[in-house]
Formats: sequence, C-alpha cells, structure tokens
Amino acid sequence: MKAVKEADRLYIIAAGTSMHAGFVGKQMFEQLAGIPTEVHISSEFVYNTPVISKKPLFIFISQSGETADSRAVLVKIKQLGYPSLTITNVPGLTLSREADHTLLLYAGPEIAVASTKAYTAQVAVQAVLAAKVAGKTDLDLSRELAIVANVMESITDHKEQYDAIAKDYLTQRNCFYIGRHVDYYVALEAALKLKEISYIQTEGFAAGELKHGTIALIEKGTPVIAIVSQESVNLNTRSNVKEVKARGANTVIISLRSLSSETDQIVIDDVHPLLTPLVTVVPTQLISYYAALHRGFDIDKPRNLAKSVTVE
Ligand code: AGP
Repeated sequence: MKAVKEADRLYIIAAGTSMHAGFVGKQMFEQLAGIPTEVHISSEFVYNTPVISKKPLFIFISQSGETADSRAVLVKIKQLGYPSLTITNVPGLTLSREADHTLLLYAGPEIAVASTKAYTAQVAVQAVLAAKVAGKTDLDLSRELAIVANVMESITDHKEQYDAIAKDYLTQRNCFYIGRHVDYYVALEAALKLKEISYIQTEGFAAGELKHGTIALIEKGTPVIAIVSQESVNLNTRSNVKEVKARGANTVIISLRSLSSETDQIVIDDVHPLLTPLVTVVPTQLISYYAALHRGFDIDKPRNLAKSVTVE
C-alpha cells in the first residue's frame, strides 16, 4: 500500500484478460485514490517504452505469474531501478518472485485456458487496493462486494437465458460487443472470451467509435451486444444500439436494473457504479460458454492457445 501511495503514477502492465482487468483497475485507482494510471500491453511496452514519470510504480497483473511478455517489462524496469508490484493468482512464480511486492488473488486454480474467475478476482483486488490507498471515503467496499457476490449468484441462476441468447443470436461468423466508459472495457473482455472459445470473430468496441468506420461491417443479422451500466452514458449507448439496429443488426442489451428499459434482454440487479464490471462480465462469460458448447468445441482447451504464454 505504501508503494502505491508514494507513486505519482501507476503503470499497469499486462496482456489479454489481465490487461482488460487493468483497464477497470485504472478507473478505480484514478477515481478512488486519485492516482494517474496508465495501462500498457506488455509486449508493446518493452520495445516502445513511453516517457516515465518521476515516481512510478509498475503493477504487473498476471493470472499465471509466468507471462513472458510481462516478464520482459519487469526485467527492463528493474534495470532502470523502478519499483514493482505483481498481482497474481499463482504464488512463487517468476513475476511474483522478481517483483518487489506481491498481492495474491486467492481465486483458486484456474484450469481452463479462458480466464474467468481470475478476471473478476483481479478487478476485486484492485478495488480493495485502491480503496485502501484512498483511506476513508463514502464507499463501504466490503458491503458493496457482498452485494456484488449476491448479484453474481443471481446471474448464474438463470443460465438458460444465456444459452438461449447464444443459440438465437450468435448464428453468424462475427459479433460485436459495444459499450462506453467501463462498459467498453468489459466489451473488450467479452469479445476476447467469445472469440477464444467459440472462434466467432468478435470485436469489442467503444460504442461511440463504431460510426467512425466499423459500422460499415454491420449487415442484416449481425449480432451486436451492448452493455449499459453507467448512467452518464446510458442514452448515448442506446442511441448507438439504434444506429446498428437500423442497419439490420440483431441487438442484445445487458443493462443494470435502474437503467434498464422493458425490451432489454438481460437485466442485472444494481451494484455500486465502480464495481459494475464484476457483474456485467458474467453474462458475457456464460454466453461464450454456451456459444462454444453449441458449436461442439473443447471449452477448456481452445485451439492454438496455452494457459501460460511463456514465449515472447
Ligand atoms: C484469457 O482468457 C487468455 N487466455 C489470455 O488473454 C490471458 O489473459 C493472457 O495470456 C495473460 O495471461 P496471464 O494473466 O497469465 O499473464
């Protein structure tokens, strides 16, 4: 905690799902603790290093603790004399051994290649760290996380709903997830999960950015799944949904109950606005699971992928 408090800027370094969790963490470190935070793709950072602040702290997020791309950054920043913290699920492996500090996820062993519970644990641990650094605030994090746990459970109680969406909507070779604000970060993660296990070509997109080119790909029947969990962008995202619908897309809206409209297909009970990525991601993980199941693919071991990516 001291290392975070002393930093003038946090640099989150990660890959894939862990990087998407890092984007959500950025929101928390900035909004709760007021510390400017950057998120970097580890494989890019090492060869294209930006100007670094005077008192940085490097935070490595890695489920496996073994990702070679992230380790290459750790080696580099250690040579430069900068402090580091690893947030990982597997104690004692390279990234935690070599960093100055380690925070464990305690998510339990994650067997499937597609990361799910590690993602939610990474987001939750960053929330705890950011709240600790922030000190006394109006946020009662333990209470809010208990609400999150209940809402997650109620989402998984309705599996047939996600099964039906996978069957009825994901009938084409492609799909889009869209969202704004933190929903955009969840859209990135949702898209990665769907493509890695169902092989449906999926893009996670900032909802407002679609009209700047990518909307050209929308045609009759293209599935577009929108995430709506933030009041400030609720109407904007809904208007982007209308735009794609007008061009023939088959749209699904995942929304928070307080922001929902009658026609939304998936409505989730409310949680604290900073913690919505913990709940909105769950239906998307289940949709990916059912999409892969319907296609008859090996959900735990998708092709071309390994659980730990130990080569650069
Ligand atoms: C997630 O489903 C992927 N398998 C992948 O993106 C993964 O998150 C990435 O390779 C990073 O792994 P790490 O968290 O073990 O560092």
